[in-house]
Amino acid sequence: MPTDCKLLIIWHSRTGGSEALGRAAGEGAGTGAQLVAAADVTPDALLAAAGYLFVGPENLAALSGAMKEMFDRCYYPCLGKLEGRPYATIICAGSDGENAQRQIDRIATGWRLKRVADPLIVNTAAQTPEAILAPKTIAEDRLAEARDLGAALAQGIAAGIF
Ligand SMILES: Cc1cc2nc3c(=O)[nH]c(=O)nc-3n(C[C@H](O)[C@H](O)[C@H](O)COP(=O)(O)O)c2cc1C
Repeated sequence: MPTDCKLLIIWHSRTGGSEALGRAAGEGAGTGAQLVAAADVTPDALLAAAGYLFVGPENLAALSGAMKEMFDRCYYPCLGKLEGRPYATIICAGSDGENAQRQIDRIATGWRLKRVADPLIVNTAAQTPEAILAPKTIAEDRLAEARDLGAALAQGIAAGIF
């Protein structure tokens, strides 16, 4: 594995929650990670990475559109070329998050990625239109979980244990 191969943290966020979680994961991973917005991810960036952390919100009981668009755009160019690489996920949700989680797992199964950490779902308790549209502040203990996850993934990749 070339030494520049890293953890790619791919994020999308509408109201800041997933962005904060993605950045926290990036802090934990340090120089072992590269943080990229879903809209800027290319098939080449996916091919060059050693592992993936997908971070995004659940919208309308699904992956957010921008995250799904990244998978739609990159799926076939990468199909058959990522087998066995490690991945993990962080979903930021108002009250659920399970469907977005399942969708990523299903896409990852197509790519034959290997889940190496339990799913992390962070609920912001946003249930009214006002709360849903408001900027999100993620509790420090949840940011710490994201930081720890980023650190564990980057260390595992560097040590070649996945
Ligand atoms: C259009 C829209 C649809 C949403 N649908 C869901 C949903 O199906 N399930 C859920 O748990 N939260 C849902 N939410 C709430 C967001 O997941 C929640 O506010 C989350 O914290 C947003 O993360 P973000 O700040 O990274 O955008 C929805 C939010 C929006 C804007």
